[in-house]
Amino acid sequence: MKYAILTTNFITTANPLNLPYVKEVTQAYDAYLIQDAQGLGVLVPAVAKKAYYVDFESMELRRRALHAKRELLVRACMVKPAAVIVDATAGFGRDSFILAACGAQVLMLERHPIVALLLEDGLNRLSGSGLQQHLSLAKEDAAYTLSALSSKPDVIYLDPMFEANTRQAKVKKDLQLLQAILADAPQDQSMLLPLALASAKQRVVVKRAIHAASLNNLEPSYCLSGKDSRFDVYQV
Ligand SMILES: C[S@@+](CC[C@H](N)C(=O)[O-])C[C@H]1O[C@@H](n2cnc3c(N)ncnc32)[C@H](O)[C@@H]1O
Repeated sequence: MKYAILTTNFITTANPLNLPYVKEVTQAYDAYLIQDAQGLGVLVPAVAKKAYYVDFESMELRRRALHAKRELLVRACMVKPAAVIVDATAGFGRDSFILAACGAQVLMLERHPIVALLLEDGLNRLSGSGLQQHLSLAKEDAAYTLSALSSKPDVIYLDPMFEANTRQAKVKKDLQLLQAILADAPQDQSMLLPLALASAKQRVVVKRAIHAASLNNLEPSYCLSGKDSRFDVYQV
């Protein structure tokens, strides 16, 4: 993916990745960062006409947070208030947000520089909300961070990569967008599971597409299955 910063307005966009600045969408770039009143967004013209922003205050996330305790993710992680969870593959942070809404302290790890910037911006815009105190971000590769943790988190959660053609990925624009951004990212998720198993105090939870094989073909202790996805739980 080739990225540029689209300067359609007078807001200055910080440029930690040293991307080129352009004034309009052209064939020369696949995706554009854009800073406007909503925050920092990404525009991928091949996927969507509008830019996408990490928005922890969206209606969808607020609704999910209200009923968070019913979510399979929360049940799989067995979230207790003040539990420490590392979401080692944070993406746009939606799953982390739901875990934080149940009272967990969540450390989000995200190594993709563009995804990490969007996530950081979303987190900054959450400032003032009690939930921001439950979420922190390290823009790092989990392979490095998990092996350098000073104390073991209760739970490590992995949602490494979408399976191609899951029904959900077809429907949801934001998932398609994340898929497009990650299309050229390394497919090295197998190394995360052994590291997570060695680094968690209680359990490792892995999100999989409903019919996908378990990660590394390692049999989980048990699974919680939904319509499109399931959570493989490894008790340690
Ligand atoms: C499927 S997405 C996660 C979606 C996320 N659960 C959510 O709710 O938005 C997977 C993310 O994990 C990240 N990732 C994959 N391997 C990683 C690693 N070793 N360290 C840190 N991040 C990683 C990818 O860059 C991608 O953003």
